[in-house]
Amino acid sequence: MSSIMSHQQRNTPTDFSTMVSDAVDRRAFLKGSAALSLFLAGATISRSGAVFSQPTTLLTFSQVSTSTDDTFRVPAGYSARPLVSWGDPLLPGAPPYDESGTQTSAAQRLQMGDNNDAMCLFGISQDHALLVVNNEYSNLHTLYSHGGSAITADDVLKDQYAHGVSVMEVRRNTTTGFWYYLADAPLNRRITAQTPMLVRGPAAGHALLRTSADPTGTRVQGTFGNCANGQTPWGTYLTCEENTNDYFASSSEVSLTPAQQRYGLDTDDEYNREWFRHDERFDLARHPNEANRFGWVVEFDPFDPQSEPVKRTALGRFSHENAALTINRDGRVIVYMGDDARGEHIYKFVSAGRYDPQDAPANRHLLDEGTLYVAHFSANPGELKGQGRWIELTHGKNGLDAGSGFNDQAEVLIFARLAATAVGATTMDRPEWIAVHPHNGSVLCTLTNNRNRGTNPEQQTGGPNPRAENHYGQIVRWWPEDNDHGRATFQWDLFVLAGNPVVHSGNLYAGSSNINPDNMFNSPDGLAFDTDGRLWIQTDGNYSNNGDFAGMGNNQMLCADPATGEIRRFATGPVGCELTGVCFSPDQTTMFAGVQHPGEDGLPSHFPAGGNSKPRSTIMMIRRDDGGIISGS
Ligand code: FEO
Ligand code: CA
Ligand code: CA
Ligand code: CA
Repeated sequence: MSSIMSHQQRNTPTDFSTMVSDAVDRRAFLKGSAALSLFLAGATISRSGAVFSQPTTLLTFSQVSTSTDDTFRVPAGYSARPLVSWGDPLLPGAPPYDESGTQTSAAQRLQMGDNNDAMCLFGISQDHALLVVNNEYSNLHTLYSHGGSAITADDVLKDQYAHGVSVMEVRRNTTTGFWYYLADAPLNRRITAQTPMLVRGPAAGHALLRTSADPTGTRVQGTFGNCANGQTPWGTYLTCEENTNDYFASSSEVSLTPAQQRYGLDTDDEYNREWFRHDERFDLARHPNEANRFGWVVEFDPFDPQSEPVKRTALGRFSHENAALTINRDGRVIVYMGDDARGEHIYKFVSAGRYDPQDAPANRHLLDEGTLYVAHFSANPGELKGQGRWIELTHGKNGLDAGSGFNDQAEVLIFARLAATAVGATTMDRPEWIAVHPHNGSVLCTLTNNRNRGTNPEQQTGGPNPRAENHYGQIVRWWPEDNDHGRATFQWDLFVLAGNPVVHSGNLYAGSSNINPDNMFNSPDGLAFDTDGRLWIQTDGNYSNNGDFAGMGNNQMLCADPATGEIRRFATGPVGCELTGVCFSPDQTTMFAGVQHPGEDGLPSHFPAGGNSKPRSTIMMIRRDDGGIISGS
């Protein structure tokens, strides 16, 4: 069949011969690539024969089935327990969680925030660590006794305190191996939508960041929409502001600029949290610049509870998912970032300075100076792979000047989306998390889904976004030229196209050949490598278990072997949740994984306490019953 490449063609190494520096990496790439025996031309899929080119050694657990239960399921031989849930007391004086929804802002300010998302563990010793967790947003139906129907000024403050970041000390029980958090510990901290923070980098102080409350444009009150994250080798945490547009509205008529519209701002309060009614800085008519002060990556030192968080404007303003940081071989800091909105882009920051393990103070501001790039992908004819290049977003280059609407570098960064369009960046299917392989330098990004693909003229199908009305998602992978993340070019392929091979056959909606009826899922989102190079995938998708999603069950967590392409389901979440956030204990024997918004939109969940309890976002711990490394041999 002409649309199926021959075995020999699939394994021809010529077009990838320069992209990986050693034979092991190249072999791994080719095997992964061969596993994806699905090609664009004719949209034909091959499933005959062995799906995986070699047996995996990285996946040692037995796959769990899909589930529609209100439980957190893990493989045979593993156990899971909750660590901490929304509303648990963290700071001195915090009252215990009370599910009535009548607790005030004063309680929430001292308690664990809601909707735990990305998290990192900062090891202190084998048995003691700091857990730093984003609190992305809140569930109004459980936050308030009135379910959100009668928001008062204190309700707004309570909601603002439910957002942000929670920092807590955790210790390991040396008998069971499971961990527990320490209420009132000295390093515990809450960062919220009310925490004062600094603005640094090229946009600091710019007129577009100045407000009546902050005429300097350098001091912002708070962070929210804290989605995914990053961790630096100099001991700081990066929290990434995502859907910040949702928090702004107005009861007055506002004529929105094209830039405000591109950033999703509107005055319709139907979907927002009504903060503007009680906190005037969120009123777009009164303080239009306030929205420019959100949508950044924020860095802070979790080991110093007094440290002031810093918004790093050099990394650009958009709906940040995570900040996947790696140190390039020349010492420059590379940060890969996705902008999670339909048809938005993938970015790369390259620092001007170099990381110096011996010079902690100098490292503290490496993210203030550097170059931002945006990705352009082109495909080999008829293939789901090709070449890519990074286009520089620097004022005075690539047409970014006053003539195209950018007066200086600060405007390029504040309106990075517009700059990306101006230079011809590729529109993507909602870039979520990015992960850098710990050993071979390949980079992967979840493209979660995109219902606009193919209908919006700006979002044609093609390249790494090959499906119109893409409701399953895919994971794109790229290999920097010469394994140098500072280079302008890369090669890419698709590691997986999620799909449903039971409902669809013979087209791209069935998914790539590493998807089968037993491991299928939709909407990959969370993505992280463990130290051994296993790729962990978390989903935030359609959990209806019906129609196109029949047989997929609740949201889930999977593990992939990047070398063989094999993917197995490791866990399933309770009713109406997404699974997001994953990290490991220093010895890799405990996995921490987040259950976010169980019982979303009032669905019948009582997770984690069961009975008639109200659902709560919760961080789970997973251990092997024999105490071994998660998925280790
Ligand atoms: Fe907060 Fe794009 O997920
Ligand atoms: Ca996400
Ligand atoms: Ca998502
Ligand atoms: Ca979410």
